[in-house]
Amino acid sequence: MKTFNKKELTEAKESFLKQYSEPVKWAAVMGSGLSGVFDDFKIVKRIPFSSIAHMPVSGVQGHPGEFVVAEHNGNTVLAQLGRVHLYEGYSAYEVSFSIGLFGELGIKNVLLTNAAGGIADALNVGELMVIEDHINLQAGSPLTTVQGSEKFLDMSETYAPELVSELSHRFRLARGVYAAVRGPHFETPAEIRYLRTIGTDAIGMSTVMEAIMARFYGLRIAGVSLITNKGAGLIKQVLDHSDVMEAAKIGKDNMTKVIKFLITI
Ligand code: HPA
Repeated sequence: MKTFNKKELTEAKESFLKQYSEPVKWAAVMGSGLSGVFDDFKIVKRIPFSSIAHMPVSGVQGHPGEFVVAEHNGNTVLAQLGRVHLYEGYSAYEVSFSIGLFGELGIKNVLLTNAAGGIADALNVGELMVIEDHINLQAGSPLTTVQGSEKFLDMSETYAPELVSELSHRFRLARGVYAAVRGPHFETPAEIRYLRTIGTDAIGMSTVMEAIMARFYGLRIAGVSLITNKGAGLIKQVLDHSDVMEAAKIGKDNMTKVIKFLITI
């Protein structure tokens, strides 16, 4: 299994800088179906994952697999369109590799987005939830082979409190706790009841490993979940991936507003 490797991350940085070397303030990782939020941005540069040394490449629908430098009103964001997941067999290090790359590039802020199932009653399909904290139910860490004591990382304010507050007030968004499981199957109704009991508001299969890596590199994190379905058993439904993609279309405009705002600060 691949584990933390500084040399690989440095080589990834070098292959990135050969293609684009302007400084960027914000990076953003776009979850399932959310790549379209950049439709009215000017795309300044496209960098396929396959052109970056050691960068893992996925095949899941809705994950095209490239970085784009996108510009709006003179503000730029390095957007990652597509991510790899633990459920594809990648390691914790591999699923957070791009975040290590952002850290190596000296990027200071990252927006992590995802598609998630709503567990809190107030969270309806198509709504956004600002992530204020997370629960790691994926059993792992990208930092296992980090040398020295830095791997004993403080996670007490993982999602920047000032960004949680600003985003939730400015856009009138719910805020809550995101829990990540490994998937790829959805949960059972009993698992959803358990998740609610332990304090989960939204459930998904990504983001948490990235957040750990981002904290390791000292990045400031904003996290936003797009609720694509109610958790299993909460309403009568059969869950499938096309629901996730459909709901993503509904939430896309709000996500676009969030990104346009974030890159101005
Ligand atoms: N569970 C887990 N992951 C998800 C869900 C869900 O209900 N919806 C979107 N991603």
